[in-house]
Amino acid sequence: MFSERGPSLRELAVQALSSVERGYDLLAPKFDHTPFRTPDRVLDATADALRPFGPFGQGLDVCCGTGAGMRVLGPLCEGRTTGVDFSSGMLAQARQAHPDAAWVRADVRDLPFGEAFDLAVTFGALGHLLPGDRPALFAGVYRALRPGRLFAFPVGAPPPVASRLYWALLGFDAVMRVRNAVWRPPFVMYYRTCPLHALRRDLAAAGFDVTTAPLTALGVREDGSPRGRLVLARRPGSRD
Ligand SMILES: C[S@@+](CC[C@H](N)C(=O)[O-])C[C@H]1O[C@@H](n2cnc3c(N)ncnc32)[C@H](O)[C@@H]1O
Repeated sequence: MFSERGPSLRELAVQALSSVERGYDLLAPKFDHTPFRTPDRVLDATADALRPFGPFGQGLDVCCGTGAGMRVLGPLCEGRTTGVDFSSGMLAQARQAHPDAAWVRADVRDLPFGEAFDLAVTFGALGHLLPGDRPALFAGVYRALRPGRLFAFPVGAPPPVASRLYWALLGFDAVMRVRNAVWRPPFVMYYRTCPLHALRRDLAAAGFDVTTAPLTALGVREDGSPRGRLVLARRPGSRD
């Protein structure tokens, strides 16, 4: 549908009628040829914004998919990099592309790590978690980080109400709510459930000190505001 190497409309429909985990298992071989993979320009803008805080030791990519985040973690982390995801299909692709990294199969609402990482990132996955699941995710990332270390992820500026994108995302979420009301298993993917203020609130509730930085490489909107920001959530404590 997106390119000759991407999934067909039929394959996407079958994916969308599955659970999130099974849907990504099915999509995995073609995922890198869809727009759902985080584009390199977003990854590179994130790496540019994080560089002044580094270098880092061990890195963790939460909801790693096929391993897009390794483009950020690889150059910034001097220690081992790890990706975690619950789709074994996505992890198989990631393992093939980045055999030197560690790949862990787990639900990110119950992360199995303790004070092991110096930088955690996540790309393109928060819409797969219901707002009520965020406390468990953020608590798990907090536990996974060493004191004083960072959890970072990019967020796009919300589209203006007058834009086509605003209505397209509203429409997508509405269709998804209807789909999930009438079909099992649910496929959780909503675009409008993660506004920056709610993410900041939930990160602060998990114990993080939260700031944001503009992703200048992504440019600015007509009103001069940045198109994207990097959320920087630091686990308090002194770095040993
Ligand atoms: C849109 S993909 C993003 C992949 C990659 N981070 C990227 O930017 O290209 C979302 C990923 O989140 C994973 N995911 C969604 N919910 C999850 C959960 N509760 N636990 C673990 N992985 C999850 C999916 O399996 C999928 O690989």
